[in-house]
Parts: sequence; structure tokens; C-alpha cells
Amino acid sequence: MKLKVCIAGATGWVGKPLCVAVSGANDLSLVGAVSRTHRSQSLKDVFDDSKIDLIVSGSVAEALGTPTDVLVDYTKADVVKANVMTAIRKGVHVVIGSSGLTDEDFIEINQAALDNKVGVIAAGNFAITAVLLQRFACEAARYLSHWEIIDYASNTKKDAPSGTTRELAFRLSEIRKPEVNHPIEETIGERESRGTTLNGSQIHSVRLPSYVISVEVIFGATDERLSIRHDAGSGAGPYIQGTLLAIRDVRNHVGLVRGLDKIMR
Ligand SMILES: NC(=O)c1ccc[n+]([C@@H]2O[C@H](COP(=O)([O-])OP(=O)(O)OC[C@H]3O[C@@H](n4cnc5c(N)ncnc54)[C@H](OP(=O)(O)O)[C@@H]3O)[C@@H](O)[C@H]2O)c1
Repeated sequence: MKLKVCIAGATGWVGKPLCVAVSGANDLSLVGAVSRTHRSQSLKDVFDDSKIDLIVSGSVAEALGTPTDVLVDYTKADVVKANVMTAIRKGVHVVIGSSGLTDEDFIEINQAALDNKVGVIAAGNFAITAVLLQRFACEAARYLSHWEIIDYASNTKKDAPSGTTRELAFRLSEIRKPEVNHPIEETIGERESRGTTLNGSQIHSVRLPSYVISVEVIFGATDERLSIRHDAGSGAGPYIQGTLLAIRDVRNHVGLVRGLDKIMR
């Protein structure tokens, strides 16, 4: 029996190749697609080169009128939480690709998922190379006590810090909080120039044309420095394999799993 998948944000930069990948997979069936702009149109007309004959819904609630096993969300920061909660309350498992959710949101989502006995997998970055950055950074944090994170994205990205950066700060905090020698709140001058503090890490967000998503964590020690950096290219391909992995795995969980590496064997 094929796993029935609905994609919110189906017409987006990630959503489109994901629709193609899901509909082409032997074990998955694309049963729902959500976009406000293309509501009531067939995906075969929305995507020039596609044979996917599926009518687009205008909302997640509408799309989940069709029996669905897994909702995948690649929409926007201002709508992702409502979409996720709608799916959970309907007993549908969820894979979250969208950025913008806070640690408090994740606590709420976890509780709702536990109450409704569904699985949720969220990853700030579904690219395998970004997962490797997380692993290497966590390894470095076991030995090095000082670090700060730089979050780069395009000038059109509205939310900050990126999901990749939020998750990195969260994962590093599971190892330890970095040491800060001069308290941030006692900064002489503009306090904001020291960035924001998230899970103990200082984060500096840069939003400029030419960046897609990059993250750099800089570890400082006496007379030496270690920089670990990930740069996403201009295509959405790297996120597809990781998202498919999560779609196939999410039914094996109850509650929230945060981070792709938690499900990579
Ligand atoms: N976790 C990861 O690995 C990863 C990788 C890349 C991107 N992301 C994140 O994924 C999200 C999507 O990125 P993208 O670059 O694919 O965005 P995008 O190209 O702008 O596409 C957004 C999609 O969401 C839909 N949408 C937007 N607002 C909506 C709303 N209020 N209600 C319902 N649908 C809505 C859009 O269609 P309509 O406007 O027609 O509704 C479109 O289909 C972002 O949060 C981004 O940061 C995560």
C-alpha cells in the first residue's frame, strides 16, 4: 500500500521538485497539493513539464479532506504552525521543512503530536551536507568552549534567523552553552551589534543578494580558530532526498523528532 502524501507549498521552489519526486516514487502517492494562487487548477497545468493530474487545494484543511498519511509543509513562517496543527488534530503525520518555528512552537507541536499519537519530523535543513555540518559542529563543541554563528540568506528572506541556524543553535546547546567572557547585556555601545542570543549562542543574520542559505559556526580558542561552514547552491535538489527519507520514516514515531540526523542510519 502506497503512503499517501500531501504537500503544502506545492508550487514553491522546494515544493515543485518534491511533488515530482513523490509522484515518481513507487511507494508514495501524491494525494494533495496546496497553494492559494493555484487553487482549483491541475498540477499538470501549473507545472509546464508535468503529467501530475492533481487538483490544487487552497488550504491544508481543504486538502486533508482527502485521506492522507503524511503532510509535508514547505510554505512560509507565518502559516506553517497553523498547517502543522491542523494536520496533527486530524491524525495526520507531519514533515516540517518550513523555517520560522521557535523552540516554544516546537514544544507545543510535540505535545499536540503526543496527544494525537502522530509523528512529526522537523529539520531546519534537509540537505545531507548540512546535517554533516551539525555533526561536526557538535563534535567541536565538546572540545571548544567559545563560538558564534553567522546566518547568511538572500535579501528576500523575511524570517531570521534561518531554520538551519535555529536548529544548529539548538543542537549545540544539547552539548553545552558557549562561554561568554563579557556579558552581552553589558556591551558598551550598540548591544544589537553583538547579534541575538538563541539557546546560548550569539547569532548574526546577514541578508544580501546572491546568498541562498549559508551558515558558519566559528569556534575561537587561544591563538587559533576553527570555522565550519555550509553553503547551499541555487537548486532545491539537496533537500529532496532528506525530505523523502523523513516522509518514509515519520510513521515510526510518536511526537516530535527535530533534526534529520536523528533518522539517518
Ligand atoms: N528545511 C529545509 O531543508 C528547507 C530548504 C529550503 C527552504 N526551506 C524553507 O521552506 C519554506 C519554503 O521555501 P521555498 O523557497 O520553497 O518558498 P517559495 O518558493 O516561496 O514557495 C512557498 C510555497 O508556499 C505557498 N504558500 C506561501 N504562503 C502560503 C500561505 N499563507 N498559505 C498556503 N500556502 C502558502 C506558496 O504558494 P501560494 O503563494 O500560491 O500559496 C508556494 O507554493 C521556507 O520557509 C524556507 O525557509 C527549508
